[in-house]
Amino acid sequence: MGSVNPSIDLAHDGEIAVVTIDNPPVNALKHEVRAGLIEAFQRVKNDAGVKAAVLACAGRTFSAGADISEFGKPRRSPGLIEVIETIESVGKPVVAALHGTPLGGGFELALGCHYRVAAPGTRVGLPEIKLGLLPGAGGTQRLPRLIGPERALQLIVSGNPTPVEELAQDGVVDAIVPGDLRQEAIAFARKVLSERRPLTRVRDREDRLSAARADAGAFTRAADASTKRARGLRAVPACVESVRNSFEKPFDEGQARELALFMELLTSEESRAQRHIFFAEREAQKVPDMPAGSKPRDIRRGGVIGAGTMGGGIAMNFANAGVSVTLVETAPDALDRGLATIRKNYANTVSRGGLSQEEMDRRVGLITGTTDFNALADADFIIEAVFEEMGLKKRVFAELDRIAKPGAILATNTSTLDVNEIAATTKRPQDVLGTHFFSPANVMKLLEIVRGEKTAFDALATAIALGRRMAKVPVVVGVCYGFVGNRMLHLRSVEAERLILEGALPQDVDAALTEFGFPMGPFAMSDLAGIDVGWRIRKGRGERAEISDTLAEMGRFGQKTGSGYFRYEGGRTPVPDPEVEKIIIDASNRLGIQRRTIDSQEILERLIFPMINEGARILEEGIAYRPGDIDVVWVYGYGWPVWRGGPMFYADQVGLGYIGDRLAHYAARSGDKALEPAPLLARLAREGRGFAENKSEDKAA
Ligand code: CAA
Ligand code: NAI
Repeated sequence: MGSVNPSIDLAHDGEIAVVTIDNPPVNALKHEVRAGLIEAFQRVKNDAGVKAAVLACAGRTFSAGADISEFGKPRRSPGLIEVIETIESVGKPVVAALHGTPLGGGFELALGCHYRVAAPGTRVGLPEIKLGLLPGAGGTQRLPRLIGPERALQLIVSGNPTPVEELAQDGVVDAIVPGDLRQEAIAFARKVLSERRPLTRVRDREDRLSAARADAGAFTRAADASTKRARGLRAVPACVESVRNSFEKPFDEGQARELALFMELLTSEESRAQRHIFFAEREAQKVPDMPAGSKPRDIRRGGVIGAGTMGGGIAMNFANAGVSVTLVETAPDALDRGLATIRKNYANTVSRGGLSQEEMDRRVGLITGTTDFNALADADFIIEAVFEEMGLKKRVFAELDRIAKPGAILATNTSTLDVNEIAATTKRPQDVLGTHFFSPANVMKLLEIVRGEKTAFDALATAIALGRRMAKVPVVVGVCYGFVGNRMLHLRSVEAERLILEGALPQDVDAALTEFGFPMGPFAMSDLAGIDVGWRIRKGRGERAEISDTLAEMGRFGQKTGSGYFRYEGGRTPVPDPEVEKIIIDASNRLGIQRRTIDSQEILERLIFPMINEGARILEEGIAYRPGDIDVVWVYGYGWPVWRGGPMFYADQVGLGYIGDRLAHYAARSGDKALEPAPLLARLAREGRGFAENKSEDKAA
């Protein structure tokens, strides 16, 4: 409990006042914090005994910004701009004491202080762009005054936190202080007083703006590059305009325009979608029935079985998280190949400047390859990534049961097999679960954690914690064929194949999705993943997909053979191929399908609505706990544009009534019962509600 209000404390160390924000977990700047800061700094101003002040935060970080949960609600005075103006005009030096991740409004607050000292390793940034916004409390005006407009724009449009060590020489921080931060900040304030340093305000600095004022060419080029990459995202041009104002307009005018742009973006559909994903991503890690206090088990050593495409990437994930890992293969040559690929992947990152050679060596050093299965005896978390064959997986798990130490988590990376059946081959099904990584496993952020019937809560908690350590986005899902992501993807693939048989061409289908915002369409994606993968699976199950299998039989496996649905002329750009067009038209004729023109609206609806429908079934069956979990899967695993908030969020925007009607129409026309609206979707549509409004209390009804 603070002395000003529950979130704000004001204490004194001689003539230095120390104002502390204490609003766990990240000291977000909710209304009470803002009001308390104004009150505290008015007292600082009026207290003749106080000569300088320190602004610090309790807990794990200096403020990480505005309270995002307040966005979309009526604004309550005082705003952050008023807080910053109060601090700036307090008439005494104010030193911000930074640690952790001062982000967004938190960093803007620090830029409003006269001086900044930081603990080593502090990372600052303006991540508003990731919420579809621009910094709204002077960030686009003050940061350019410290580090120049071009560099400020880069930081603002990337949104990524930057270590203060990289920004210190620009005066973003005045000192990096190891040791007790509060004491160091107080000592710094005393030094400012004793040296009679001026009361510098960032807003008054002009020196870093002069180059852009004389010639804005470099800024314009940087701005054009950012806008081009932004693919229609409104927040990016807003950031550009606002940063440009920093050198073209007086501070107050620039700040007023920044606020106007911020308010405009705040009400945009894009920002709402991005804020939804921010919270959904964090919510997805919560298992509703998990008792409070379910603690993750200790993970000191990892194990991976199979050094193929996935196993190698998974071993890298362990090493990237700083966990030593044993990688087991059947034969030395397969192991050598796997280890060589790992080294090559790391070396590529080093050559692109993403990793130091020293760090690469450290990570490679954490991976030990072996053909001796018994080497897994001391591993705490073992992930199996052998071929997708139930018999083989069962043998591997029976063997694991024999050698793994008690309490070790036994995970399978299966993409389709029944995790319960695998768990049943062990005497410890409570320790078995699925960790479904996405390819390339060392790159893709999504991790579906598959909860088996008997998986223990602390085993689940361990998998979630490990996923976070690996910098993944974990989502807990239930057991079913394809889990959440691939189960929905399957419906899209079926419909994509139908569309080309009915009259569209692969480039038309892909264009509908890239215009929607996906990085690539279903056919370019098949070409990237390899058309032969599905072909082999279907052959095994006695199934056939007309066009895809014809292409595979011709050896057109996709990018790896230079052709698939498209041609690849040496690069990765898909080029429409008349030969494929002929194959498709012949197939339509052979199957007696009358080809017709299909517009992009129909293409989009037929690709996306069946996925939403399957998402509704996934919710009904309890395979996903919340619609937001499905959204997170699609944003992080399949390139769903984050500013459209994921399929279930998007469905609520379009309206379930419309989607239900269209699905019923497509089901009647095709005779495919799978397209009929799922009961949950149909019920919500009747009630005029969306998935987000399907609250748990009426789920049972
Ligand atoms: N507002 C409200 N809640 C927030 C929050 C914020 N700015 N930042 C984090 N939280 C909440 C999370 O939702 C989470 O809540 P639960 O525990 O209930 O799930 C909790 O704080 C912890 O967050 P994380 O799990 O993300 O913790 P972490 O240690 O992994 O990461 C972090 C910490 C780096 C600060 C990360 O939370 C983060 O990036 N936060 C967002 C920062 C941000 O975007 N700030 C800008 C806000 S917009 C703004 O400030 C506008 C402006 O100009 C005025
Ligand atoms: P892969 O064929 O590239 O690698 C499998 C490796 O396992 C091979 O190197 C093989 O020698 C090894 N292996 C086989 N039996 C073994 C045993 N008894 N002990 C030790 N090693 C053994 O296969 P991939 O693609 O890596 O797939 C592995 C698993 O991951 C499968 O279950 C697959 O369904 C799943 N998966 C694959 C994805 C992908 O995109 N490739 C994506 C997500 C999951």
